[in-house]
Amino acid sequence: MKRIALLTSGGDCPGLNPCIRSVVRTALCEGIETIGVQRGWRGLVENEMEPMDARSVAGIAKLGGTVLRSSRCPEFRQAEVREQAAANLREREIDGLLVIGGNGSLQGASELSLQTSLPLIGIPKTIDNDVGGTDYALGFDTAVNTAVEAIDKIRDTATSHERLFLVEVMGRNRGFLALEVALACGAEGVLVPEVPTDIGALCAQLERCRDAGKVSSIVVVAEGDDAGNAYEIARKIADESGYDPRVSVLGYIQRGGAPSAADRVQGGLFGKAAVDALLAGETSKLVAKRDGETKLVELELAWKETRELPGNLMELARILAS
Ligand code: F6P
Repeated sequence: MKRIALLTSGGDCPGLNPCIRSVVRTALCEGIETIGVQRGWRGLVENEMEPMDARSVAGIAKLGGTVLRSSRCPEFRQAEVREQAAANLREREIDGLLVIGGNGSLQGASELSLQTSLPLIGIPKTIDNDVGGTDYALGFDTAVNTAVEAIDKIRDTATSHERLFLVEVMGRNRGFLALEVALACGAEGVLVPEVPTDIGALCAQLERCRDAGKVSSIVVVAEGDDAGNAYEIARKIADESGYDPRVSVLGYIQRGGAPSAADRVQGGLFGKAAVDALLAGETSKLVAKRDGETKLVELELAWKETRELPGNLMELARILAS
């Protein structure tokens, strides 16, 4: 193996740059050149690639975003578009491809892998932490910390004014981010798409907290909740109770910022494991974190397996809110 290509695809997140650095430097240690593909699948189809070396990844481990840029590329679902990507890789004599992506991008990777004989390994990333086959996707830890820091500030004003705040976090249609954030900031309530929302029960819980002497309340709302977005839920709460809730939507700050130490280390581990997998002759595999260890699993698990929201964390969030 002489030359591998690397790309980052889909919504960006902190942790991509440490992983890119790890891939480039691990490959160099093995005498392999890394070609960086710009702008994810789109750049691969449009043949935008540049060689990378040890210096081109210097100092990037502490940077948010991705030095390779990223994009969403729905056209990659079409076989002829993937064929163009495969032809570009062949033309540059690429011996293996590493794809850092979420479940959509990794589905594209699976489909490309079925279409070509090129060895291909996936690396999971997304602040939603919803990639199947792995307990952890890069970016999640940093996003949790970013949201917690923001909500700690919201708590200050909520307490001063004895108010109820609804804080909406990302997660697409899964509640992993909301749940972990709610636990870490001691929220009085958490609404996730996996559990049907009962506004009456939520109001009763907020009342219990108030009766127990709490002066402020925070409810963390996952985007994609069945009861609507945070503004719609606030309106429903106001209609059912004496509350006059305030709403804060955290938005894209959750996708940016310097990666946490945990995401830097995990990015390093995933990057090295992916290069090692190519060297071992593996293909169509996902580098995964399972039971605290870095392992290889079938790539298709990334988008075929649905991860369960940890029931024990839901229970803990409820107990600690009292
Ligand atoms: O998957 C990451 C994520 O930030 C989700 O939490 C969010 O729903 C989505 O991407 C937004 O994607 P885009 O920036 O493409 O609209």
